[in-house]
Amino acid sequence: MKLNIALLAGDGIGPEVIDQAVKVSDAVAQKFGHDITWKPALTGAAAIDAVGEPYPDETHEVCANADAVLFGAIGDPRFDNDPSAKVRPEQGLLKMRKKLGLFANVRPTFTFPSLIDKSPLKRDRIEGTDLIILRELTGGVYFGERGRLNDGDTAFDTMTYHRFEIERLAKKGFEMALKRGKRLCCVDKANVLEASRLWRETVQAMEKDYPEVEVTYEFVDAVAMRLIQWPKGYDVIITANLFGDILTDEASVISGSMGLMPSSSVGSEVSLYEPIHGSYPQAAGKDIANPLATVLSAAMLFEDKGLSEEAQAIRNVVNKSLAEGIVTEDLAEGGKAYKTSEVGDWLAKNI
Ligand code: IPM
Ligand code: MG
Repeated sequence: MKLNIALLAGDGIGPEVIDQAVKVSDAVAQKFGHDITWKPALTGAAAIDAVGEPYPDETHEVCANADAVLFGAIGDPRFDNDPSAKVRPEQGLLKMRKKLGLFANVRPTFTFPSLIDKSPLKRDRIEGTDLIILRELTGGVYFGERGRLNDGDTAFDTMTYHRFEIERLAKKGFEMALKRGKRLCCVDKANVLEASRLWRETVQAMEKDYPEVEVTYEFVDAVAMRLIQWPKGYDVIITANLFGDILTDEASVISGSMGLMPSSSVGSEVSLYEPIHGSYPQAAGKDIANPLATVLSAAMLFEDKGLSEEAQAIRNVVNKSLAEGIVTEDLAEGGKAYKTSEVGDWLAKNI
């Protein structure tokens, strides 16, 4: 297969972890006879520095014309501590999601056999966890009306959802549940928020089309607790943008490190693959960040292209590296800590 992949390394550790995913993907392509062309493009603070804009039109062109987008991370402390900044790297990420129509963010949470004891949670609680949080990605409070009132001391952000936005996400959730454990949980705050009541109403109306799927409705605050208390209670969760942002960071604790969990963002056209972690600026340039979340995001890319064997080859080599202790410092715990690039080299060699 010929694949044109847009490569958006972004900020912080982005370029380092992306490099490893490229090495591993190239090794897979070589082994299975595929032809990958990488198309690098600027995004985030890197793009602001270069052209004054975090998601330039040229980058959008590259993404829109690619077969998939592989993305590193976005964010820079220079902007975090400056609330008056006119342009921010994160705006690039939101603009990219919106312009590429990536309305569904698929964030799986699972455990690795050799890492169960690295999680701060007890083994019997988490062993066998296999859930997916399907986060709405182009609506809600991230994109609703916001501003300051004239007094300058009052600010507002609004959570707006249209029925079609909920329907198209829920449809993906139902379809995903059908292929998995046939359980779907709609997570909202319907006891307080009108937008959440529309979520419930919409999903309830869809239940009859998926009689095999068992649907439950839970409040997000309760899910924040149950998710780490008994993660095996969940199969597919569908939820709004902000709730999904928060719950997926929380869920990553189950696997043992934030550096492990991949994600895909899908819509109607091109899909994007990225680690769920951020730009980890403290580690930038030090060659210490865990590249596995990005490498596993590349595996999701192969899987979505129908290349399951290739995806499995990546997951297998990742499991092997963990079992053999070829890990970065976040997982080394007193043992030898390998560099980001060394882990990437080892994975590529062992594919
Ligand atoms: C994520 C990140 C982003 C988000 C930030 C960087 C804007 O936290 O992808 O989860 O909030 O969506
Ligand atoms: Mg987040």
